[in-house]
Parts: sequence; structure tokens; C-alpha cells
Amino acid sequence: MRSEIEERRKNLEEMTKRLRERMTRVKHKIVVMSGKGGVGKSTFTANLALAFSNKGYRTGILDADIHGPSIPKILGVRGRSMRAGPNGALPVNGPKEIKIVSMDFLLTSDETPVIWRGPLKDAVIRQFLSEIDWGELDLLLVDLPPGTGDEPLSVMQQIPGIDGVLLITVPSEVSQLVVRRAVGFVEKMGVPILGIVENMSGFVCPKCGEVTAVFGSGGGKKISDELGLPFLGSIPLDPRISEDSDEGRPFILERSGTPAANAFARLVEVIEEKLKEKG
Ligand SMILES: Nc1ncnc2c1ncn2[C@@H]1O[C@H](COP(=O)(O)OP(=O)(O)OP(=O)(O)O)[C@@H](O)[C@H]1O
Ligand SMILES: [Mg+2]
Repeated sequence: MRSEIEERRKNLEEMTKRLRERMTRVKHKIVVMSGKGGVGKSTFTANLALAFSNKGYRTGILDADIHGPSIPKILGVRGRSMRAGPNGALPVNGPKEIKIVSMDFLLTSDETPVIWRGPLKDAVIRQFLSEIDWGELDLLLVDLPPGTGDEPLSVMQQIPGIDGVLLITVPSEVSQLVVRRAVGFVEKMGVPILGIVENMSGFVCPKCGEVTAVFGSGGGKKISDELGLPFLGSIPLDPRISEDSDEGRPFILERSGTPAANAFARLVEVIEEKLKEKG
């Protein structure tokens, strides 16, 4: 019994060591989070990764949404699987060479739900970080499920040297309250917040280009000011984002030059500045 416990402790220590080694080869780590569900975190993460790759960053995405992984669908790599390599399993290569790791690659059927409690989710996230051969990366983006549950806790406890969290909100009043909760959570975890991004901010008519504030406007900026956090920018609501994501077409590559694609490119610059400030 004693030796079994000893063995487990040793395994965990080795895993943690491997995790740290792997993560030191990743220059920047950014976590995408929100208080509320459905505000567009995954869509945002996928397109931000594309925008960074466009600028020559070697980019990876850890899809840490264990119950509802959606990055592979958005980037059109569903049904692929992670192959074994000499230094651990290899992430799936997505568009623009984005390295993707997701629970979706481990599920054999669309109908199978993942029914796991916290410790199991914690263990799988640890394995995603320690047993996957991420290689050298300039940026790892982590997509989280909504709220402040098990996955955000595991991610923030396990990933060393997170540069910061991007908080995604929508311009409606309801989500402002939950943003506060998310901010409180991140602060408790001792992880820096890079700033707030407003998604679905204004509808861009694909025909005439006119912008309509469907959910009101300025909510993201207002909450940022109230909480004393940087407001990094906004992404407009564009039905083509949703269409492309459903079809697995990488939006900003397909629709370069649209206001939403330009907004992603601008955000990359703002985030680069933030990373530079941090040194
Ligand atoms: N800027 C946008 N314009 C139009 N549709 C968008 C935009 N951002 C996201 N969407 C759409 O909104 C829906 C929710 O997006 P997404 O799944 O990325 O949200 P999420 O915050 O990751 O959700 P969850 O909390 O369930 O993980 C999707 O259908 C997506 O295509
Ligand atoms: Mg999501």
C-alpha cells in the first residue's frame, strides 16, 4: 500500500517536471475566459490564433473545454486524432499550422458525453500539458468553458507563467455582473488579466457594411473602466463568422479585409503591446 502511494507521488512529480519543461518551450501563454456561456470565447480563440499565425507566430491551442470542446469544429479538423510521436502524442495540425489539442480528438462518437468530476478533468488537463509534444511555440492560447469551475481552476493552477487572461464579454448588461465574478476568480488565482474584449459588438451588415448596435454598445468599455482593467477592443457581430465556424472554414482567412477580420488583426497588435509591456 505504502509503496503504491509512493509510486503515485513519484509519477505525479515526474509529470509536473515534464509539464514545466514543456511549458518553458512555449514563450507566451494566454487564457481566454468569460463569466457567461456563449459569448464567443471559442470562436474568438480560434480566430485570434489564426491572426497570430498570420503574423508568423508559432501558435497552439489547448481546448480546455472538456465537456463541450468546439475548437476542432471551428477550425475544420474534427474527426482527426493525435498521433504518437517519439516525445509524446502530437497535437493535430490545424490551418496555418496551428497545433491543436482537444478532448474532441479522443472521443469516438458524437453522442458520447464526458461525465467526469473535477479530479478526472484536472488529470486530463495535466496530461494535455505534460504528455503532449507541443514543441517550440511562440504562443499557446487556452480556451476555457464558461465560468469559474474545474477547468479554469486546473488551467490556472497548472500552467506556469501565464502571461494573462483575456476576458470576453458581450455588450449586454447581464454579462457585466458575471464578468466581475470572473475577474475576482482570476485575481484570487494570482494570474494577471491582460484586459477585456467585447465580442458581438455591433452588427455589420454583410450587404451594405452598416453597423447596428444589436445588444447596445460600450458595455465592455464601461465594465473595464469600472474595474480598472484595460479595454483591448471589440469584435463586431457578423453572421459569416458563425456560418464559417459551422462549416469549419477559418473565418479570418476566408474573409480577410472584413471589419471583423480587421478587428482581429488590430487586437493582435494590442495584445503584442501588452506582452511587450510585461517584458
Ligand atoms: N462576432 C461574432 N459574430 C457572429 N457570431 C458569433 C460571433 N462570435 C461568436 N459567434 C457565434 O456565437 C455562438 C457561440 O460562440 P462560441 O461557441 O464561440 O461561444 P463560447 O463562449 O465559446 O461558448 P461556450 O460558453 O459554450 O464555450 C457560435 O454560434 C458562434 O459562431
Ligand atoms: Mg466555447
